[in-house]
Amino acid sequence: MKFFLDTANIDEIKDAHSMGMVDGVTTNPSLIAREGREFEEVIKEICAIVDGPISAEVISTDTEGMLKEARHLAALHKNIVVKIPMTVDGIKATCQLTKEGIKTNVTLVFSPLQALMAAKAGATYVSPFLGRLDDLSQDGLQLIEQIVDMYANYAYETEIIVASVRNPLHVLESAMMGADIATIPYSVLAKFASHPLTDKGLKAFLDDWNKAQA
Ligand code: G3P
Repeated sequence: MKFFLDTANIDEIKDAHSMGMVDGVTTNPSLIAREGREFEEVIKEICAIVDGPISAEVISTDTEGMLKEARHLAALHKNIVVKIPMTVDGIKATCQLTKEGIKTNVTLVFSPLQALMAAKAGATYVSPFLGRLDDLSQDGLQLIEQIVDMYANYAYETEIIVASVRNPLHVLESAMMGADIATIPYSVLAKFASHPLTDKGLKAFLDDWNKAQA
């Protein structure tokens, strides 16, 4: 499974990258706004740190506006993937960007048929928002399973980025289902490595070693 980091925070990206755990980065307008910095400056800095797909989202909601922004964003760096919202205008834009060879990440996906449209439009990636469905007491993991199965049935090349991840189990369950990628908040990724029995065991090793040296 590829791990993307779901953040625009440079410090988080640098730390996770130092663990070798960042295969790409996804941003969105909210994550960018949170940093209080100029959009393109942040995106370029991320591209300089992580040599992998970097998702940058358009702001326009009309097809022509999306296309204009997408072409500009794609020209900033070879690794930029343009995030397009799952709307009718977004799908029209995605179809055209596919023809132009510009990589896209269709985002804000909440149903299997939205994901099917994204694949048919030639999206490079699709981002189903698992956590936001769970937040509404709907089964987000069921959506992930449906998309994995549907894409396998027709050998779609669109890669599934499990997004809106709220906890480690979201990543574990998505990996068990065979989702290609999880885009993970830094706070969630930071939980993967730790286990109380590991800490306990390491302490015991060191205590025994040190006793033997006495
Ligand atoms: O960046 C896309 C998605 O992962 C954001 O999800 O629900 O944490 O805002 P959320």
